[in-house]
Amino acid sequence: MSYEVAVIGTGSDPDEPDGDGYAMAYHHASAYRKLDGADLVACADIVRENAEAFAAEYGIEDGVYEDYETMLAEVEPAVVSVCVPPAAHEEVTVGCTRAESVEAIHCEKPMADTYGGARLMAQEADRHGVQLTFNHQRRFSDAVRTAKRLLDEGEVGDLERVEFSAGIGIFDYGSHSFDLCNYFNDETPAEWVMGQVDYREENVLFGSHNENQALVCWEYENGVTGLAGTDSTGEGGPASVFGCHNRLVGTDGVIEVGPDGEDAPALRIRRNGDAEWETVPTEDGLHDWAFVDRAIAENLRCLRAGERPELGARNALNATELIFATWESARRRGRVDLPLEIDDNPLSAMVESGDLTPRGGG
Ligand SMILES: NC(=O)c1ccc[n+]([C@@H]2O[C@H](COP(=O)([O-])OP(=O)(O)OC[C@H]3O[C@@H](n4cnc5c(N)ncnc54)[C@H](O)[C@@H]3O)[C@@H](O)[C@H]2O)c1
Repeated sequence: MSYEVAVIGTGSDPDEPDGDGYAMAYHHASAYRKLDGADLVACADIVRENAEAFAAEYGIEDGVYEDYETMLAEVEPAVVSVCVPPAAHEEVTVGCTRAESVEAIHCEKPMADTYGGARLMAQEADRHGVQLTFNHQRRFSDAVRTAKRLLDEGEVGDLERVEFSAGIGIFDYGSHSFDLCNYFNDETPAEWVMGQVDYREENVLFGSHNENQALVCWEYENGVTGLAGTDSTGEGGPASVFGCHNRLVGTDGVIEVGPDGEDAPALRIRRNGDAEWETVPTEDGLHDWAFVDRAIAENLRCLRAGERPELGARNALNATELIFATWESARRRGRVDLPLEIDDNPLSAMVESGDLTPRGGG
């Protein structure tokens, strides 16, 4: 049996990615095209020429739409990829969950630009029995998988702390990074979050605000702690704040995924008492569009098998809660105990209220 697939939000040019557009839909489409049992039959974009260019690239003949709801009604796809900007994720994804034909939705990250929106998406998917996943594809890098295996095999003892550095803020890049921390800590929910942000220069990516710098600490229900720093202001790369993308600190050593530095390996380990880091060979680095292929293949495998996918909404919501709790902590000037009970986007709200006044805004 083959699933009919539709894509919403095609983007315009995958060859010139920037903060205004990566055309992620092309990466989703390439992933479906590589699979047996998935036929890309339709696309929708409010900019018709974007949809037409995408349709031409993927050989879609009769399935080009500007309005995604018309597309859902006429084409009745079983699987939908949602690649619109974050502010439109909630409306489009919830709309897809209500379409009779839709069995699975793979939505881009970050989940939504409000916490209430993210919760609603998860709730509506559950209510309609739709498999809802988010594209935290970095879980599918061999470096990440191998780091988790080393951790589970006890190579650095018991996990005490997860850390991450991110160059582009806790929302955009941090959505992946928090998600990876939760993956390393077996999806354990967090108990509290404390964070601070600096937002002096407007930094709008894919239509949403992202702070310039942030410092966050948090604690999970199993006592493991988290520490994260983001900095989009300097020359340093994403890993520069604490010297690597993801660090796993155990009772008997440390694992680093994506340490900073030009010749640094994707993965290394140092056990207590070792004088040097040991490079751990991996099949790929930290960023590769092949991870999207693996994520989408796994989603469809789970759909077929009736299994819960690891990119599912429950895990994504855990990462999203940490994002919005960080901004909420900055708004409250204090520790935020979880579960998080807000619906809005505290960073945007602080900009709207004038509590934050980033320069360069329109
Ligand atoms: N997973 C990753 O590593 C990764 C990387 C880059 C971007 N992203 C995410 O992917 C998502 C899309 O980003 P992009 O860079 O592909 O954007 P893009 O601008 O390249 O494409 C988005 C498209 O959506 C269309 N659109 C907007 N609202 C719509 C609506 N209501 N109905 C139909 N079409 C609509 C726009 O016209 C545009 O063509 C964002 O959430 C972004 O954060 C993820």
